[in-house]
Amino acid sequence: MASFLPPDWPARLALDRAHLWHPFTQMKEHEADPPVPVVAGEGCDLVLGDGRRVLDGISSWWTCLHGHGHPRLLGALERQGARLDHAMFAGFTHEPAIELAARLRRRLPPRLTRCFFSDDGSTSVEVALKMAFQAQLQRGQRDRTRFGALQGGYHGDTLGAVGVGELDNFMTGIFRPLLLACARVAVPEDPRRQVLPELEGWEVRLEDARADLRAFFGEHGAHLAAFIAEPLVQGAAGMRMWPPELLQELRALCDAHGVYLILDEVMTGFGRTGTLFAHTQAGVDPDLLCLSKGLTGGLLPLALTWASEDIYQAFWGDYTEGRAFLHGHSFTANPLACAVACASLSLFDEEPVLARAQELGTALRASWSGLAGHPAVRDARHLGCIAACRIVDPRTGAPHPPEARFPWRFHRKVLDHGLLVRPIGDCLYLLPPLATPPGRIREAVEVLGRLLPN
Ligand SMILES: Cc1ncc(COP(=O)(O)O)c(C=O)c1O
Repeated sequence: MASFLPPDWPARLALDRAHLWHPFTQMKEHEADPPVPVVAGEGCDLVLGDGRRVLDGISSWWTCLHGHGHPRLLGALERQGARLDHAMFAGFTHEPAIELAARLRRRLPPRLTRCFFSDDGSTSVEVALKMAFQAQLQRGQRDRTRFGALQGGYHGDTLGAVGVGELDNFMTGIFRPLLLACARVAVPEDPRRQVLPELEGWEVRLEDARADLRAFFGEHGAHLAAFIAEPLVQGAAGMRMWPPELLQELRALCDAHGVYLILDEVMTGFGRTGTLFAHTQAGVDPDLLCLSKGLTGGLLPLALTWASEDIYQAFWGDYTEGRAFLHGHSFTANPLACAVACASLSLFDEEPVLARAQELGTALRASWSGLAGHPAVRDARHLGCIAACRIVDPRTGAPHPPEARFPWRFHRKVLDHGLLVRPIGDCLYLLPPLATPPGRIREAVEVLGRLLPN
Protein backbone atom coordinates (compact mmCIF):
# COMPACT_ATOMS: atom_id res chain seq x y z
CA MET A 1 0.00 0.00 0.00
CA ALA A 2 1.41 3.38 -1.04
CA SER A 3 2.32 5.72 1.78
CA PHE A 4 1.19 9.32 1.30
CA LEU A 5 3.27 10.61 4.15
CA PRO A 6 6.38 12.74 3.81
CA PRO A 7 9.67 10.92 4.55
CA ASP A 8 10.08 12.94 7.76
CA TRP A 9 6.65 11.92 9.09
CA PRO A 10 8.06 10.48 12.35
CA ALA A 11 9.56 13.91 13.14
CA ARG A 12 6.22 15.62 12.43
CA LEU A 13 4.37 13.12 14.58
CA ALA A 14 6.86 13.92 17.34
CA LEU A 15 5.86 17.60 16.97
CA ASP A 16 2.21 16.58 17.26
CA ARG A 17 3.06 14.72 20.47
CA ALA A 18 5.11 17.66 21.76
CA HIS A 19 2.58 20.43 21.12
CA LEU A 20 -0.91 19.31 20.13
CA TRP A 21 -3.78 18.65 22.47
CA HIS A 22 -6.50 16.65 20.70
CA PRO A 23 -10.22 16.88 21.56
CA PHE A 24 -11.98 14.30 23.76
CA THR A 25 -8.69 12.51 24.23
CA GLN A 26 -6.66 11.24 27.17
CA MET A 27 -3.42 12.35 25.57
CA LYS A 28 -1.36 9.74 27.41
CA GLU A 29 -2.97 7.07 25.22
CA HIS A 30 -1.38 8.62 22.14
CA GLU A 31 2.04 7.69 23.51
CA ALA A 32 1.34 4.09 22.52
CA ASP A 33 -1.32 4.66 19.88
CA PRO A 34 -0.61 7.89 17.97
CA PRO A 35 -3.33 9.78 16.07
CA VAL A 36 -3.95 8.43 12.58
CA PRO A 37 -2.80 10.79 9.82
CA VAL A 38 -5.50 11.72 7.29
CA VAL A 39 -4.17 13.05 3.99
CA ALA A 40 -7.19 13.40 1.72
CA GLY A 41 -10.97 13.39 1.57
CA GLU A 42 -12.55 12.07 -1.61
CA GLY A 43 -16.31 11.66 -1.82
CA CYS A 44 -17.49 9.48 1.07
CA ASP A 45 -13.96 8.30 1.80
CA LEU A 46 -11.04 9.55 3.81
CA VAL A 47 -7.55 8.55 2.68
CA LEU A 48 -5.17 7.77 5.51
CA GLY A 49 -1.43 8.36 5.54
CA ASP A 50 -0.58 4.74 4.79
CA GLY A 51 -2.81 4.79 1.71
CA ARG A 52 -5.82 3.09 3.31
CA ARG A 53 -9.14 4.39 1.99
CA VAL A 54 -11.88 4.27 4.60
CA LEU A 55 -15.59 5.04 4.36
CA ASP A 56 -16.36 8.06 6.57
CA GLY A 57 -19.07 6.22 8.50
CA ILE A 58 -19.71 9.14 10.88
CA SER A 59 -19.49 12.00 8.36
CA SER A 60 -16.44 13.47 10.14
CA TRP A 61 -18.26 14.18 13.39
CA TRP A 62 -21.68 14.45 11.74
CA THR A 63 -20.75 17.33 9.44
CA CYS A 64 -20.19 16.02 5.90
CA LEU A 65 -23.28 15.79 3.66
CA HIS A 66 -22.36 15.70 -0.03
CA GLY A 67 -19.00 13.96 0.30
CA HIS A 68 -15.51 15.36 0.87
CA GLY A 69 -13.95 17.72 -1.64
CA HIS A 70 -17.22 18.40 -3.45
CA PRO A 71 -16.34 20.56 -6.50
CA ARG A 72 -19.40 22.81 -6.13
CA LEU A 73 -18.53 23.67 -2.53
CA LEU A 74 -14.84 24.14 -3.29
CA GLY A 75 -15.71 26.30 -6.32
CA ALA A 76 -17.93 28.54 -4.16
CA LEU A 77 -15.11 28.86 -1.63
CA GLU A 78 -12.60 29.85 -4.28
CA ARG A 79 -14.89 32.40 -5.95
CA GLN A 80 -15.83 33.98 -2.64
CA GLY A 81 -12.19 34.02 -1.50
CA ALA A 82 -11.23 36.00 -4.58
CA ARG A 83 -13.87 38.63 -3.71
CA LEU A 84 -14.14 39.03 0.06
CA ASP A 85 -12.58 36.73 2.63
CA HIS A 86 -13.82 38.35 5.80
CA ALA A 87 -15.27 41.53 7.22
CA MET A 88 -16.71 42.29 10.60
CA PHE A 89 -20.47 41.92 10.71
CA ALA A 90 -21.34 44.67 13.20
CA GLY A 91 -22.32 47.71 11.16
CA PHE A 92 -21.52 45.90 7.88
CA THR A 93 -23.26 43.29 5.80
CA HIS A 94 -22.54 41.24 2.67
CA GLU A 95 -24.27 39.30 -0.04
CA PRO A 96 -23.36 35.72 1.00
CA ALA A 97 -24.91 36.23 4.47
CA ILE A 98 -28.07 37.82 3.05
CA GLU A 99 -28.35 35.12 0.38
CA LEU A 100 -27.94 32.32 2.91
CA ALA A 101 -30.53 33.76 5.29
CA ALA A 102 -33.02 34.24 2.45
CA ARG A 103 -32.49 30.72 1.11
CA LEU A 104 -32.88 29.10 4.51
CA ARG A 105 -35.87 31.24 5.48
CA ARG A 106 -37.86 29.65 2.67
CA ARG A 107 -37.29 26.22 4.19
CA LEU A 108 -38.16 27.08 7.79
CA PRO A 109 -41.43 27.48 9.70
CA PRO A 110 -42.96 30.97 9.13
CA ARG A 111 -42.54 31.84 12.80
CA LEU A 112 -38.71 31.85 12.46
CA THR A 113 -37.95 35.17 10.81
CA ARG A 114 -34.58 36.26 12.22
CA CYS A 115 -31.19 34.60 12.16
CA PHE A 116 -28.07 35.26 14.16
CA PHE A 117 -24.71 33.97 12.94
CA SER A 118 -22.03 32.26 15.00
CA ASP A 119 -19.33 29.64 14.45
CA ASP A 120 -20.21 26.16 15.71
CA GLY A 121 -22.96 24.15 17.34
CA SER A 122 -22.00 25.15 20.88
CA THR A 123 -22.08 28.86 20.13
CA SER A 124 -25.42 28.56 18.33
CA VAL A 125 -26.75 27.08 21.58
CA GLU A 126 -25.13 29.79 23.74
CA VAL A 127 -26.81 32.39 21.55
CA ALA A 128 -30.21 30.68 21.87
CA LEU A 129 -29.92 30.46 25.67
CA LYS A 130 -28.89 34.09 26.05
CA MET A 131 -31.59 35.28 23.63
CA ALA A 132 -34.28 33.32 25.45
CA PHE A 133 -33.19 34.64 28.86
CA GLN A 134 -32.88 38.25 27.73
CA ALA A 135 -36.16 38.17 25.78
CA GLN A 136 -38.00 36.89 28.85
CA LEU A 137 -36.37 39.55 31.01
CA GLN A 138 -37.27 42.32 28.57
CA ARG A 139 -40.85 41.07 28.53
CA GLY A 140 -40.93 41.57 32.28
CA GLN A 141 -40.45 37.90 33.21
CA ARG A 142 -37.77 38.44 35.84
CA ASP A 143 -38.22 35.07 37.56
CA ARG A 144 -37.40 33.01 34.50
CA THR A 145 -33.77 32.39 35.40
CA ARG A 146 -33.64 28.63 34.72
CA PHE A 147 -33.69 26.33 31.75
CA GLY A 148 -35.38 23.02 31.11
CA ALA A 149 -33.74 20.19 29.19
CA LEU A 150 -33.99 16.49 28.44
CA GLN A 151 -31.94 14.02 30.42
CA GLY A 152 -29.14 12.71 28.22
CA GLY A 153 -29.02 15.86 26.08
CA TYR A 154 -25.83 17.18 24.53
CA HIS A 155 -25.64 20.73 23.25
CA GLY A 156 -21.90 21.40 23.10
CA ASP A 157 -18.89 22.05 25.28
CA THR A 158 -18.99 25.74 26.13
CA LEU A 159 -20.18 26.33 29.67
CA GLY A 160 -23.70 27.50 28.81
CA ALA A 161 -24.21 24.51 26.53
CA VAL A 162 -22.72 22.12 29.10
CA GLY A 163 -25.15 23.52 31.66
CA VAL A 164 -28.16 22.34 29.68
CA GLY A 165 -26.57 19.03 28.68
CA GLU A 166 -26.45 15.76 30.60
CA LEU A 167 -24.57 16.24 33.83
CA ASP A 168 -24.27 12.67 34.97
CA ASN A 169 -21.23 11.81 32.97
CA PHE A 170 -17.54 12.25 33.48
CA MET A 171 -17.20 14.89 30.79
CA THR A 172 -19.50 17.47 32.29
CA GLY A 173 -20.07 16.51 35.91
CA ILE A 174 -16.94 18.25 37.15
CA PHE A 175 -18.15 21.60 35.84
CA ARG A 176 -21.31 21.49 37.94
CA PRO A 177 -20.28 24.49 40.16
CA LEU A 178 -19.88 26.70 37.10
CA LEU A 179 -23.12 25.98 35.28
CA LEU A 180 -26.52 27.51 34.55
CA ALA A 181 -29.51 26.49 36.62
CA CYS A 182 -31.20 23.72 34.69
CA ALA A 183 -33.92 21.16 35.49
CA ARG A 184 -34.04 17.94 33.48
CA VAL A 185 -36.76 15.49 32.59
CA ALA A 186 -36.49 12.04 31.02
CA VAL A 187 -38.23 10.84 27.89
CA PRO A 188 -38.36 7.16 26.89
CA GLU A 189 -36.83 5.79 23.72
CA ASP A 190 -39.28 5.21 20.87
CA PRO A 191 -39.69 1.44 20.37
CA ARG A 192 -41.09 2.04 16.87
CA ARG A 193 -37.56 2.94 15.72
CA GLN A 194 -36.30 -0.49 16.71
CA VAL A 195 -35.58 -2.97 13.96
CA LEU A 196 -37.35 -5.55 16.14
CA PRO A 197 -40.00 -3.43 17.87
CA GLU A 198 -41.46 -4.43 21.25
CA LEU A 199 -44.71 -2.49 21.30
CA GLU A 200 -46.55 -4.16 24.13
CA GLY A 201 -47.66 -1.57 26.69
CA TRP A 202 -46.24 1.25 24.57
CA GLU A 203 -49.38 3.43 24.60
CA VAL A 204 -49.41 3.31 28.41
CA ARG A 205 -45.70 4.18 28.61
CA LEU A 206 -46.23 7.08 26.21
CA GLU A 207 -49.10 8.38 28.31
CA ASP A 208 -46.95 8.06 31.47
CA ALA A 209 -44.18 10.04 29.75
CA ARG A 210 -46.69 12.76 28.82
CA ALA A 211 -47.78 12.89 32.45
CA ASP A 212 -44.12 13.20 33.55
CA LEU A 213 -43.64 16.16 31.22
CA ARG A 214 -46.81 17.79 32.53
CA ALA A 215 -45.66 17.28 36.13
CA PHE A 216 -42.23 18.71 35.25
CA PHE A 217 -43.76 21.87 33.80
CA GLY A 218 -46.16 22.07 36.74
CA GLU A 219 -43.15 22.19 39.06
CA HIS A 220 -40.67 24.25 37.03
CA GLY A 221 -42.65 25.97 34.24
CA ALA A 222 -42.98 29.37 35.93
CA HIS A 223 -39.19 29.71 36.33
CA LEU A 224 -38.04 28.49 32.93
CA ALA A 225 -36.81 30.93 30.29
CA ALA A 226 -36.65 28.14 27.71
CA PHE A 227 -36.69 24.38 27.25
CA ILE A 228 -34.02 22.89 24.97
CA ALA A 229 -34.12 19.56 23.16
CA GLU A 230 -32.54 17.70 20.26
CA PRO A 231 -35.60 16.75 18.20
CA LEU A 232 -36.18 13.00 17.73
CA VAL A 233 -32.56 11.88 18.19
CA GLN A 234 -30.24 12.61 21.13
CA GLY A 235 -26.98 12.12 19.28
CA ALA A 236 -24.22 12.13 21.87
CA ALA A 237 -26.43 10.21 24.34
CA GLY A 238 -25.86 7.28 21.97
CA MET A 239 -28.37 7.98 19.21
CA ARG A 240 -31.36 7.79 21.59
CA MET A 241 -34.43 8.03 19.39
CA TRP A 242 -37.42 9.49 21.22
CA PRO A 243 -41.05 9.86 20.20
CA PRO A 244 -42.36 12.81 18.13
CA GLU A 245 -45.54 12.78 20.26
CA LEU A 246 -43.47 13.93 23.25
CA LEU A 247 -41.98 16.77 21.24
CA GLN A 248 -45.57 17.81 20.46
CA GLU A 249 -46.36 17.62 24.17
CA LEU A 250 -43.30 19.77 24.94
CA ARG A 251 -44.47 22.38 22.43
CA ALA A 252 -47.92 22.51 24.02
CA LEU A 253 -46.46 22.75 27.53
CA CYS A 254 -44.02 25.51 26.54
CA ASP A 255 -46.94 27.47 25.09
CA ALA A 256 -49.08 26.91 28.16
CA HIS A 257 -46.31 27.98 30.55
CA GLY A 258 -44.82 30.91 28.60
CA VAL A 259 -41.52 29.04 28.00
CA TYR A 260 -39.56 29.33 24.75
CA LEU A 261 -38.82 26.07 22.94
CA ILE A 262 -35.26 25.78 21.61
CA LEU A 263 -34.68 22.96 19.15
CA ASP A 264 -31.06 22.00 18.67
CA GLU A 265 -30.82 20.60 15.14
CA VAL A 266 -27.03 20.87 15.07
CA MET A 267 -26.80 17.13 14.41
CA THR A 268 -30.28 16.28 13.07
CA GLY A 269 -30.43 19.14 10.54
CA PHE A 270 -29.88 18.91 6.80
CA GLY A 271 -31.32 15.51 6.00
CA ARG A 272 -29.85 13.25 8.67
CA THR A 273 -33.23 11.99 9.85
CA GLY A 274 -34.70 11.64 6.35
CA THR A 275 -36.27 15.12 6.16
CA LEU A 276 -34.40 18.40 5.85
CA PHE A 277 -35.11 19.09 9.54
CA ALA A 278 -36.27 16.64 12.18
CA HIS A 279 -38.85 18.97 13.75
CA THR A 280 -41.06 18.74 10.66
CA GLN A 281 -41.60 15.02 11.36
CA ALA A 282 -43.34 16.01 14.59
CA GLY A 283 -45.07 19.02 13.04
CA VAL A 284 -43.55 21.17 15.79
CA ASP A 285 -42.15 24.66 15.22
CA PRO A 286 -39.57 25.96 17.69
CA ASP A 287 -39.15 29.54 18.94
CA LEU A 288 -35.39 29.20 18.52
CA LEU A 289 -33.59 26.82 16.17
CA CYS A 290 -29.86 25.98 16.29
CA LEU A 291 -28.12 24.88 13.08
CA SER A 292 -24.47 24.11 12.33
CA LYS A 293 -22.44 21.02 11.21
CA GLY A 294 -24.22 20.24 7.87
CA LEU A 295 -24.98 23.93 7.27
CA THR A 296 -21.89 24.25 5.06
CA GLY A 297 -22.10 20.65 3.87
CA GLY A 298 -19.39 20.02 6.46
CA LEU A 299 -16.70 22.08 4.74
CA LEU A 300 -16.32 25.08 7.07
CA PRO A 301 -17.42 26.06 10.56
CA LEU A 302 -20.58 28.17 10.65
CA ALA A 303 -23.71 28.25 12.78
CA LEU A 304 -27.07 29.94 12.89
CA THR A 305 -29.60 30.57 15.61
CA TRP A 306 -33.02 31.30 14.13
CA ALA A 307 -35.43 33.23 16.34
CA SER A 308 -39.14 33.97 16.15
CA GLU A 309 -40.35 37.46 15.36
CA ASP A 310 -41.82 37.57 18.85
CA ILE A 311 -38.37 37.06 20.41
CA TYR A 312 -36.79 39.56 18.04
CA GLN A 313 -39.35 42.19 18.99
CA ALA A 314 -38.36 41.84 22.65
CA PHE A 315 -34.97 43.35 21.70
CA TRP A 316 -36.39 46.19 19.59
CA GLY A 317 -36.18 49.74 20.95
CA ASP A 318 -34.23 52.96 21.07
CA TYR A 319 -30.50 52.76 21.69
CA THR A 320 -30.83 54.31 25.14
CA GLU A 321 -33.25 51.58 26.27
CA GLY A 322 -30.35 49.10 26.27
CA ARG A 323 -32.40 46.25 24.83
CA ALA A 324 -29.95 45.17 22.08
CA PHE A 325 -28.49 41.66 21.93
CA LEU A 326 -24.86 42.44 22.76
CA HIS A 327 -23.23 39.27 21.54
CA GLY A 328 -20.94 38.52 18.61
CA HIS A 329 -17.85 36.64 17.48
CA SER A 330 -14.86 37.73 15.41
CA PHE A 331 -15.89 35.47 12.54
CA THR A 332 -19.63 36.15 12.71
CA ALA A 333 -21.13 35.44 9.25
CA ASN A 334 -17.76 34.71 7.66
CA PRO A 335 -18.36 35.27 3.93
CA LEU A 336 -16.41 32.17 2.85
CA ALA A 337 -18.51 29.91 5.07
CA CYS A 338 -21.75 31.66 4.01
CA ALA A 339 -20.91 31.20 0.32
CA VAL A 340 -20.19 27.50 0.87
CA ALA A 341 -23.45 27.11 2.81
CA CYS A 342 -25.33 28.72 -0.11
CA ALA A 343 -23.66 26.26 -2.49
CA SER A 344 -24.68 23.37 -0.24
CA LEU A 345 -28.31 24.57 -0.25
CA SER A 346 -28.14 24.88 -4.06
CA LEU A 347 -27.23 21.21 -4.19
CA PHE A 348 -30.41 20.43 -2.23
CA ASP A 349 -32.35 22.43 -4.89
CA GLU A 350 -30.66 21.12 -7.99
CA GLU A 351 -29.85 17.53 -7.16
CA PRO A 352 -32.05 14.86 -5.56
CA VAL A 353 -30.07 15.07 -2.29
CA LEU A 354 -32.98 14.15 -0.03
CA ALA A 355 -34.29 11.46 -2.40
CA ARG A 356 -30.81 9.90 -2.42
CA ALA A 357 -30.67 10.19 1.35
CA GLN A 358 -33.92 8.27 1.52
CA GLU A 359 -32.48 5.51 -0.68
CA LEU A 360 -29.46 5.44 1.60
CA GLY A 361 -31.78 5.25 4.61
CA THR A 362 -33.65 2.31 3.09
CA ALA A 363 -30.40 0.46 2.40
CA LEU A 364 -29.11 1.27 5.87
CA ARG A 365 -32.28 -0.03 7.49
CA ALA A 366 -32.22 -3.25 5.44
CA SER A 367 -28.57 -4.00 6.29
CA TRP A 368 -29.01 -2.96 9.92
CA SER A 369 -31.94 -5.39 10.21
CA GLY A 370 -29.48 -8.11 9.19
CA LEU A 371 -27.10 -7.02 11.92
CA ALA A 372 -29.85 -6.95 14.56
CA GLY A 373 -29.64 -10.72 15.12
CA HIS A 374 -25.87 -10.72 15.79
CA PRO A 375 -25.11 -12.11 19.27
CA ALA A 376 -23.15 -8.96 20.22
CA VAL A 377 -25.94 -6.60 19.14
CA ARG A 378 -28.90 -5.28 21.13
CA ASP A 379 -31.52 -2.58 20.47
CA ALA A 380 -30.78 -2.12 16.77
CA ARG A 381 -32.63 1.00 15.69
CA HIS A 382 -32.85 3.35 12.77
CA LEU A 383 -34.11 6.74 11.61
CA GLY A 384 -33.32 8.26 8.21
CA CYS A 385 -29.58 8.07 7.60
CA ILE A 386 -28.79 7.11 11.21
CA ALA A 387 -28.55 3.51 12.41
CA ALA A 388 -27.45 2.54 15.92
CA CYS A 389 -27.32 -0.37 18.33
CA ARG A 390 -25.86 -1.38 21.66
CA ILE A 391 -22.82 -3.63 21.71
CA VAL A 392 -22.58 -6.26 24.43
CA ASP A 393 -20.21 -9.06 25.31
CA PRO A 394 -21.89 -11.98 23.49
CA ARG A 395 -20.83 -14.44 26.21
CA THR A 396 -22.55 -12.58 29.02
CA GLY A 397 -24.98 -10.23 27.28
CA ALA A 398 -23.56 -7.46 29.51
CA PRO A 399 -21.87 -4.25 28.31
CA HIS A 400 -18.08 -4.40 27.98
CA PRO A 401 -16.47 -2.90 31.10
CA PRO A 402 -15.14 0.63 30.44
CA GLU A 403 -11.56 -0.40 31.32
CA ALA A 404 -11.59 -2.90 28.41
CA ARG A 405 -11.72 0.11 26.03
CA PHE A 406 -13.78 -2.01 23.65
CA PRO A 407 -15.21 0.93 21.65
CA TRP A 408 -11.74 2.35 21.02
CA ARG A 409 -10.23 -1.03 20.12
CA PHE A 410 -13.16 -1.82 17.84
CA HIS A 411 -12.82 1.57 16.12
CA ARG A 412 -9.13 0.86 15.38
CA LYS A 413 -9.87 -2.69 14.18
CA VAL A 414 -12.66 -1.58 11.85
CA LEU A 415 -10.39 1.12 10.43
CA ASP A 416 -8.09 -1.65 9.21
CA HIS A 417 -11.05 -2.97 7.21
CA GLY A 418 -11.90 0.24 5.39
CA LEU A 419 -14.49 1.81 7.68
CA LEU A 420 -14.40 4.69 10.14
CA VAL A 421 -16.78 4.32 13.08
CA ARG A 422 -16.42 5.82 16.55
CA PRO A 423 -18.74 4.19 19.08
CA ILE A 424 -20.11 6.35 21.90
CA GLY A 425 -19.78 4.17 24.99
CA ASP A 426 -21.57 0.94 24.08
CA CYS A 427 -23.43 2.59 21.18
CA LEU A 428 -22.21 1.57 17.75
CA TYR A 429 -23.71 3.69 15.00
CA LEU A 430 -23.43 4.67 11.38
CA LEU A 431 -24.17 8.21 10.23
CA PRO A 432 -22.57 8.39 6.77
CA PRO A 433 -22.56 11.33 4.34
CA LEU A 434 -25.96 11.63 2.62
CA ALA A 435 -24.20 11.03 -0.71
CA THR A 436 -22.91 7.57 0.28
CA PRO A 437 -23.85 4.99 -2.38
CA PRO A 438 -26.18 2.36 -0.86
CA GLY A 439 -23.77 -0.41 -1.97
CA ARG A 440 -21.02 1.08 0.20
CA ILE A 441 -23.26 1.09 3.22
CA ARG A 442 -24.17 -2.57 2.71
CA GLU A 443 -20.43 -3.37 2.63
CA ALA A 444 -19.87 -1.32 5.76
CA VAL A 445 -22.54 -3.14 7.75
CA GLU A 446 -21.17 -6.45 6.49
CA VAL A 447 -17.72 -5.45 7.84
CA LEU A 448 -19.25 -4.63 11.23
CA GLY A 449 -21.06 -7.98 11.33
CA ARG A 450 -17.83 -9.82 10.50
CA LEU A 451 -15.69 -8.00 13.07
CA LEU A 452 -18.04 -7.91 16.05
CA PRO A 453 -17.13 -10.61 18.57
CA ASN A 454 -19.24 -13.76 18.26
C1 LIG B 1 -27.03 18.31 19.15
C2 LIG B 1 -25.72 19.01 19.24
N1 LIG B 1 -25.66 20.28 19.65
C3 LIG B 1 -24.52 20.96 19.75
C4 LIG B 1 -23.33 20.35 19.43
C5 LIG B 1 -22.04 21.12 19.56
O1 LIG B 1 -21.55 21.41 18.30
P1 LIG B 1 -20.00 21.83 18.12
O2 LIG B 1 -19.21 20.62 18.42
O3 LIG B 1 -19.93 22.24 16.68
O4 LIG B 1 -19.74 22.95 19.04
C6 LIG B 1 -23.32 19.03 19.00
C7 LIG B 1 -22.05 18.36 18.67
O5 LIG B 1 -21.96 17.19 18.46
C8 LIG B 1 -24.54 18.34 18.91
O6 LIG B 1 -24.60 17.06 18.53
